[in-house]
Amino acid sequence: MPTDDSPRAVPFAVDSTDRIPAERYHDQAFFDLEAEHLWSSVWQMACRLQEIPNAGDFVEYTNLGKSVIVVRDTNGDVNAFHNACRHRGVQLAVDRGCAKNGFVCPFHGWCYGLDGANTFVYSPDHFRDENLVPDELNLRPCRVELWGGSAFINHDDDAPPLRDSLGPFAPAMEAFNVEDMQIEWWESAVLPVNWRLVLSAFLEGYHVCTTHPELIPPGTRDKDTYAPSRPGVDYASRYAGSDDSQTQVDNFLYYIKNLGEGMGGMVHAREIAVAESIRHMDLPEPATASRDFTAALYVALAEWGRESGTPMPDFDAMAAQGIQSGVYYAFPHYFLLPVYASASAYRVRPIGPEETLFEIWSLAPFAPGEQPPTPGTPTPMALDDERWPWIPLQDFSNLPRQQKGLHAKGFEYMRLAESVEGTISNVERLVDGYLAGVDSQRLLDGAQHVSGKIGSPIADLGF
Ligand code: FES
Repeated sequence: MPTDDSPRAVPFAVDSTDRIPAERYHDQAFFDLEAEHLWSSVWQMACRLQEIPNAGDFVEYTNLGKSVIVVRDTNGDVNAFHNACRHRGVQLAVDRGCAKNGFVCPFHGWCYGLDGANTFVYSPDHFRDENLVPDELNLRPCRVELWGGSAFINHDDDAPPLRDSLGPFAPAMEAFNVEDMQIEWWESAVLPVNWRLVLSAFLEGYHVCTTHPELIPPGTRDKDTYAPSRPGVDYASRYAGSDDSQTQVDNFLYYIKNLGEGMGGMVHAREIAVAESIRHMDLPEPATASRDFTAALYVALAEWGRESGTPMPDFDAMAAQGIQSGVYYAFPHYFLLPVYASASAYRVRPIGPEETLFEIWSLAPFAPGEQPPTPGTPTPMALDDERWPWIPLQDFSNLPRQQKGLHAKGFEYMRLAESVEGTISNVERLVDGYLAGVDSQRLLDGAQHVSGKIGSPIADLGF
């Protein structure tokens, strides 16, 4: 907890690392402090670059009333500007579109190039010279950096570079080639839930056995399959549940098929078909059957990728580096969940202390010419809409109940399992660091223990 030389006191601070005060998830003053001291200083995933492939293509990214235009210019570069005409503040861009010839303000017709430069003022003779100083008429730039097939913006000109801020998340996701992934579908929902409570549902795997029992192969139900993140234990081995090689493989296929179906992607149907094609391969050593099957699946997927022209990650390099499938988090509001060459992605944006916009993308690589059309910005769907795959439906069914439960008399704090729910604590204490005004270098150092694979133990953030 930041107490020593921190300039600001934090209400409902995390004093005990495994106990998170309930008020943090509904208190208006806490929410306002986050808007002022956290969201003003962090990198925010603004759009996938796939949304702005050509000169003039733009996306309006909004969060907590702040609107930023992210636009591709004629050099192919991506620029970002605060979305306000320099005359009287009208927003120049809404949602997504193409401003091939630049932005024209709909109010009095002032114009701006894709580089933000003001190119036209209607009837300038009506203005005092002091109000038409050229530099002051250009759009105010916002920091933008590109990573992993996405553009990220930051309202803080002094914040550390994006990739440094992403910590261990970045190299792991680069190994999965997230930059090459394309959007297969993209949907959203408005949850009556605090934004960090939404995060917390995806920061641990402890809930999987109860919330998503369909993911657990029948023979492994009594095992602590999902609890800790176990270094060196591959996906298949975690679901072995038998001394018989074929049963181990069958259990693993049961898992990835249900995961793919339940997420509407994440493990792509094409990847499951490749796994099915080697289902009955010869695996004479039961002790290593799961590992051997995984290795064979990597080879088969790489071969399928070569034959189909679909870009695949370098599975050998990943294995050598110990990079595994899983749920990966980038502070404060972005997730990637890669399994093989495909992934799901989440983005979380606060609306109010107890309301959050939650988005899911399903991402996959495609051969040239086979990319699906880029979907438009989704209209939020109801939490029980039948179009949701069943895993998000199951998560949505818990979250509003948890938000209500946090208001119950006598419920003072969430008690965390320190070995498997530690990421929740790490996130909450990094938030406290921002609210307390801890210096940016220590926040950056702390972030290295927060972003990365979820389900980690409680960490010492250094403040
Ligand atoms: Fe934009 Fe007047 S507000 S031209």
